[in-house]
Amino acid sequence: MSREPPLNLADYEALAPAHMHPAVWDFISAGADDGVTMTQNRRAFERIALRPRVLADVGRIDTRAIVLGAAISSPILIAPTGPHAALCPEGEVATAEAAGKSGLGMVANSGSNRTIEDIAAVATGPLWLQLYLFPERERTHALVRRAEAAGCGALVLTADSPRFGRKEQSLRTENEFDWPEAGNLAGLPPATKRPIRGAPATWEDLDWLRDVTRLPIVLKGVLTAEDAAMAVDRQVAGIVVSNHGGRQLDGATASIEALPEIVAEVGGRAEIYLDGGIRRGTDVLKALALGARAVMIGRPVLWGLAVGAGAGALDVLEMLKRELELAMALAGRPGLADIDASLVRTAPIQG
Ligand code: FNR
Repeated sequence: MSREPPLNLADYEALAPAHMHPAVWDFISAGADDGVTMTQNRRAFERIALRPRVLADVGRIDTRAIVLGAAISSPILIAPTGPHAALCPEGEVATAEAAGKSGLGMVANSGSNRTIEDIAAVATGPLWLQLYLFPERERTHALVRRAEAAGCGALVLTADSPRFGRKEQSLRTENEFDWPEAGNLAGLPPATKRPIRGAPATWEDLDWLRDVTRLPIVLKGVLTAEDAAMAVDRQVAGIVVSNHGGRQLDGATASIEALPEIVAEVGGRAEIYLDGGIRRGTDVLKALALGARAVMIGRPVLWGLAVGAGAGALDVLEMLKRELELAMALAGRPGLADIDASLVRTAPIQG
């Protein structure tokens, strides 16, 4: 079946491997261990049925959203991923330009190939920096100060990665490719270039981070009401319900299935975002119905970058926006405020 021109995100996924080194594809597409959680991220969306309303006035659909006080054209953000420069030469700069053209926000990862200053120079929408911790707090603090100076709107502390999950599909090929340097970490001694190693984040680190920055903090990788409660007690501004795209603890719950208990626990005290397996506008709709303020997408942006550089990433974002807009019209929900839990029915969990 022809995938050209791509009509949806799955078409981009099918086209993407031909546009990158096989080791890069292995890294991007891998899940941890048996990929159970990665697969369930998708299946869980399929188990949720929509309850559309008819004869609503859907002549005008308004998808505009606000995240941490910043306006975006649709409740979609780019999740922190890498390595963008292995997919297109401009790396995260191309991604940030695509986000800006689409009116969406982007989370740059701490190991991005381009520096946070380069990315911020072209960003026109919300730009947040994801953090892994260095073993030495002063180094982390230095990166935090750079994010503040560059105009980032938030820091996103990734909580689900005290170690890296084993991505076996990638372990076999990872040394076959000359990985591009992490721009933010360039110039640091090699031992500190991989910030996560030896520096698993704890609740104490979150307290420390909150005390050294004026930026709002978003905690990424929460899957339980218990942790969400601890996070809001520590005044986080946002929580990303996420299992890291199934790349960390295999067997962890699908992120969309973790969302309701977290929304109930937080009760509006922090903004809730969701990522993991968002591939259709109807997935975005389901996440919003279950209480997410916005979603993040990871791999599809990488497929777009590989296939068509910045224009490909933009096409992916625009496709998802259009699909959400259409889904809102067909569901009889013209504005985000019209989307609530009555829009979904969740089937009993099975296969
Ligand atoms: C990631 N993710 C990630 N998360 C994070 O907090 N810091 C990081 O550096 C990375 N790096 C990364 C690389 C690659 C190649 C992938 C695929 C993912 C996880 C990412 O932010 C997000 O949680 C998932 O990608 C969302 O799932 P989908 O949209 O890819 O299914």
